[in-house]
Amino acid sequence: MVQIRIPTNGKQMLLAAGFRPIVGSCWRIIRNLLSFAVMSKDQVYSKSMANIADFRFDAGVADVFTDMIERSVPGYRSIITMIETLTGHYAQPGSKLYDLGCSLGGATHSMARGLTAQNCEIIAIDNSAAMVERCRKAMDRVHTCASVRIIEGDILTTPIADASVVVLNFTLQFIPPEERVQLLEKISAGMRPGGVLILSEKVTFEDRHLDELLFDIHHDFKRAHGYSDLEISQKRSALENVLIPETIPTHRNRLLNAGFTSVDVWFQCFNFMSMLAVK
Ligand SMILES: C[S@@+](CC[C@H](N)C(=O)[O-])C[C@H]1O[C@@H](n2cnc3c(N)ncnc32)[C@H](O)[C@@H]1O
Repeated sequence: MVQIRIPTNGKQMLLAAGFRPIVGSCWRIIRNLLSFAVMSKDQVYSKSMANIADFRFDAGVADVFTDMIERSVPGYRSIITMIETLTGHYAQPGSKLYDLGCSLGGATHSMARGLTAQNCEIIAIDNSAAMVERCRKAMDRVHTCASVRIIEGDILTTPIADASVVVLNFTLQFIPPEERVQLLEKISAGMRPGGVLILSEKVTFEDRHLDELLFDIHHDFKRAHGYSDLEISQKRSALENVLIPETIPTHRNRLLNAGFTSVDVWFQCFNFMSMLAVK
């Protein structure tokens, strides 16, 4: 694993160079930007494996997760950026905002940055201890007008109440299909009128030609971002029984049946999309 360290004497270097008046307030921002830009490289599937176990969000994955998701999910960074704008638009004063399956808190950060409504609480939940530990450390550095709680727990059993914004950013696809209706009904029942669910997923297509084409193009995307054919094929095997994608009409109909009034895709890049479902 390649790990680049941010120099700890950077602050002293700036002070010596005569930047004393701005150093105090700017240094934290510079370090945050650097730690965001410098991430550990995903090499989880780079060596040939005799047996490929089902994919798990363990410590090895958590250590490289930002690099992994950015090089694997076309449009991920755009969606994360837009969650900030969507939060600003939909968050209601005094309500709760949920990030379900928060991982390292990419979407939680965006919600915190975009939030202007007062007296809100952001609740980020994940059932991977490794993710939650790292998410808590990362959120310590974020300044927001809301209170933030990061919970290690199962989103299938966590209550949802008084919510104006709920994010399921590439999480539902890891929930067993037979559990998805009940989860979405619970989310819908726990939302305020006018609130929004942001649901991002890998999808399949009924048109077989389009499905195969976008599947291949996604692999081209991964190759273009430095993954070898071995890494692509081993990860594909590991995800086979764990990540179960569905079609866009399946998502739309299930959300409407769960009690959302307006549902449609607001973003799509190849076989990855994000939907808005308004309560
Ligand atoms: C692809 S990641 C989500 C990425 C994240 N939302 C983001 O925007 O960076 C899926 C996450 O869902 C979590 N997860 C899967 N099933 C879960 C469950 N039943 N309860 C809580 N978290 C779950 C995994 O541990 C993992 O961190």
